[in-house]
Amino acid sequence: MRVVVASRNKKKIEEIRRILEGIDISLLSTDDFPHLEEVIEDGDTFEDNALKKARYVCKETGLPAIADDSGLEVKVLDGRPGVKSARYAGENATDEENVKKLLNEMKGIPPEKRQASFKCCIALVLPNGEENIFTGQIDGWITEKPRGNLGFGYDPVFIPEGYEQTFAEMKPSEKDALSHRRKALDKLKQFLLKLANFYKQNLS
Ligand code: IMP
Repeated sequence: MRVVVASRNKKKIEEIRRILEGIDISLLSTDDFPHLEEVIEDGDTFEDNALKKARYVCKETGLPAIADDSGLEVKVLDGRPGVKSARYAGENATDEENVKKLLNEMKGIPPEKRQASFKCCIALVLPNGEENIFTGQIDGWITEKPRGNLGFGYDPVFIPEGYEQTFAEMKPSEKDALSHRRKALDKLKQFLLKLANFYKQNLS
């Protein structure tokens, strides 16, 4: 069974490939279909954006398509930056600029009110129109200053619940095992295992 990952992000595709290893599928990506256009992520929720990308790629390729959207939600900011996580400080903002804006907005907020969650939503759209959503979440706290230089995005200011290090201070393998993306991908993996078996028995 062939499945297309709706992404050009090589790191993301590799992570998905690693986690889905062992399932009888051949994983393709947007780069294997040069005619595919960039999908504008203008939805109000992670689910809207993931579904929009997966629907487009499934329709254009005729193959099952996977797409994800993720970001950080801060409780005291009513869920911001949310779907705007990548461009919080402006359209082409760097990770440092986004983190700086977040910390400025949270100035003076005491430690016990700095709850936040990373959320990930993965959509799988099948050529028969079936749509499935897999979600993952990791709760934690926003620091007052950035700490650590591993990872990306908001990793230097996020401490997962039950830990003392920020994601940017942890070994990548330690972060990967806890992350919102990992939790959603594990659910997708269970589903794809069943789907791949079904395809093998009925369609090959
Ligand atoms: P994407 O949907 O995976 O491209 O993520 C959108 C944005 O959310 C990223 O540009 C980051 O700012 C933020 N983000 C998502 N996942 C993480 C993470 O694991 N660590 C830090 N930031 C993240």
